[in-house]
Amino acid sequence: MSTETVRNDPSTAKRVTTQTLQELKAAGLPVAMLTAYDYTSARILDRAGVDVLLVGDSASNVMAGHETTLPITLEQMIYHAQCVVRAVEHALVVVDLPFGSYQSNAKKALYSAIRVMKESGAHAVKLEGGQAAAPMIKRITKAGIPVMGHLGLTPQSIYRFGTYKVRAREETEAEVLRRDALLLERAGCFAIVLEKIPATLAADVSSSLSIPTIGIGAGSACDGQVLVTHDALGLTTEFNPRFVRHYANLADEMTRAVEHYISDVRERRFPTEDESY
Ligand code: KIV
Repeated sequence: MSTETVRNDPSTAKRVTTQTLQELKAAGLPVAMLTAYDYTSARILDRAGVDVLLVGDSASNVMAGHETTLPITLEQMIYHAQCVVRAVEHALVVVDLPFGSYQSNAKKALYSAIRVMKESGAHAVKLEGGQAAAPMIKRITKAGIPVMGHLGLTPQSIYRFGTYKVRAREETEAEVLRRDALLLERAGCFAIVLEKIPATLAADVSSSLSIPTIGIGAGSACDGQVLVTHDALGLTTEFNPRFVRHYANLADEMTRAVEHYISDVRERRFPTEDESY
């Protein structure tokens, strides 16, 4: 079966694996990735044919209402991952290791990754960081667990950055990012998310690596793209950075539907006789 078939026909397609992503990069075919946190949404996204579903720690924002990704726990990430895995027949499911579950040492990182894989049935983990994260990535991949890296604007470091502005505009930081990307590839990552960096830098990094890059606010030359599903579907109305494209306006659609329901209930138009026993 060709890579085109793997990606374009979810009804007959094989399951997406890390190897599939490698093949897509080699064939010059972009990877489509979205976030998912619950069974019902994951089922819709998977049936639509998305290649990768990321159980992102952005669940801390969009599911739990926290201001940052820092508060979400390993147990909560495992719960979201279990919900998504139950729904998915096609996509590769990648789970974010949350803040505090991997930074202190490689042994703790491996323990957290093993818990995610064993308790959720997901296919890979993702973690943030460059040089400092390399020993954790090596340890986890040595145990047979695929790891996706994440460079650029890494939200778990927001208090160090102090701002959500574009990263690596300056050459010094860009050089560190180029070096980190190569380090992550050597450490064993199967792909790297590049978040909110200049498009030219992302293009550079993407062509220097043999593994795929997945961009978010990193321009069109990345080997794939990811968006937070709630942003792409227009559910998060207050979050409007330029890298988000709204493919629907579900917040308005939901508001209209709910207002309609409320008025039907209040005017006794719902339920009708046909909707009763
Ligand atoms: O948590 C998340 O949703 C992410 C994506 C933005 C890449 O890490």
